[in-house]
Amino acid sequence: MCSTLCLLVLINIIGCVELITVSTPHKYINVTKGDSVQIQCTFQTVPETKALTIEWNFVSSSSITPQQVSYYQSGETIIAKAYQGRLQPFSSPATTSNATIILSNMQSSDSGVYTCEVHNFPDVSGKSQVNIFVKVLEKPSDPYCAVHGDVEAGHLVTLTCHSERGSPSPMYKWTRLDHTMTSWPVLGRTTTTGILEITNISQFEFGTYQCNATNAVGFSTCNIDLTHDPGNGVIAGAVIGALLGCVLIILVVWFIAHNVKKHKYKAVKASEAKEMKRQAPQAQETAESVPVATTAGSLHAEVDEPQA
Ligand SMILES: *[C@@H]1O[C@H](CO)[C@@H](O)[C@H](O)[C@H]1NC(C)=O
Ligand SMILES: *[C@@H]1O[C@H](CO)[C@@H](O)[C@H](O)[C@H]1NC(C)=O
Ligand SMILES: *[C@@H]1O[C@H](CO)[C@@H](O)[C@H](O)[C@H]1NC(C)=O
Ligand SMILES: *[C@@H]1O[C@H](CO)[C@@H](O)[C@H](O)[C@H]1NC(C)=O
Repeated sequence: MCSTLCLLVLINIIGCVELITVSTPHKYINVTKGDSVQIQCTFQTVPETKALTIEWNFVSSSSITPQQVSYYQSGETIIAKAYQGRLQPFSSPATTSNATIILSNMQSSDSGVYTCEVHNFPDVSGKSQVNIFVKVLEKPSDPYCAVHGDVEAGHLVTLTCHSERGSPSPMYKWTRLDHTMTSWPVLGRTTTTGILEITNISQFEFGTYQCNATNAVGFSTCNIDLTHDPGNGVIAGAVIGALLGCVLIILVVWFIAHNVKKHKYKAVKASEAKEMKRQAPQAQETAESVPVATTAGSLHAEVDEPQA
């Protein structure tokens, strides 16, 4: 960088070049999202720097319209609204011949081409501008892990992993974690798009799987448990769940009823005896038609009783 500059200065002193020359030591810059970047630009010009103008423009990677970043003329710098507060401009470029800017809090939208253009009338010919390519790198966002297929022995199971953000595009790697959270290589095929295919899952392969999305600036992971039946088992699971639920409700009702009954026997034996007599005909009546309902009917009566 210095050598180029020294050479330029030397050439200028010697007087071989009578044209404006704008240059940068770093034409390609990578910066991590959120960080600051120094975009360097220096120039050489022969006449006095009285009519010096310096213009910084930007063309985003996702558009073709140039956007003004800053404009310098007659010792004053105007910073475009979008860059106010995060652009640190050069100071006294007329004496330093340095038009370097510093941009802070870089975002993905700041990726693109920055142009430094210097004019110094009447020194109008020569290389008056330089382009600097800035790439904002972002570590992969937390990936989404998902299971597809029947998680049953002998079946094809596919695990997918995807990070919504990340630049450059993340690479995905699946590993299996044992109970000590040590990772092991997986028995399957992993594609660069984050898809892991386990063609014939066996008992051995159930467990916790981890996807690691990695790029040049960092990594993020997600875990997924591969246990029996999260896919096909949903219906069976729902049925079993419902059945278990019913059994549980019956048990709870029975338990409450039983307890109430016990309590009653201990506490209000006398009054209960009376109540039983009163209830008896009704219970018998029900029993004749539907035997199952008898229990429900009498239980209901007994549960309600303490309130009466
Ligand atoms: C130009 O200025 C920046 C700071 O604003 C400095 O880091 C850089 O080294 C300077 N370049 C030259 C060639 O002096
Ligand atoms: C899957 O593996 C089991 C035993 O590990 C084997 O019996 C079966 O034939 C295999 N199925 C396929 C489709 O490879
Ligand atoms: C910037 O990052 C890309 C990967 O996204 C890499 O290929 C390139 O070499 C990097 N350039 C510099 C100057 O570090
Ligand atoms: C993810 O992969 C990167 C790069 O290979 C590695 O440095 C990092 O330790 C891995 N992270 C985990 C949690 O395995």
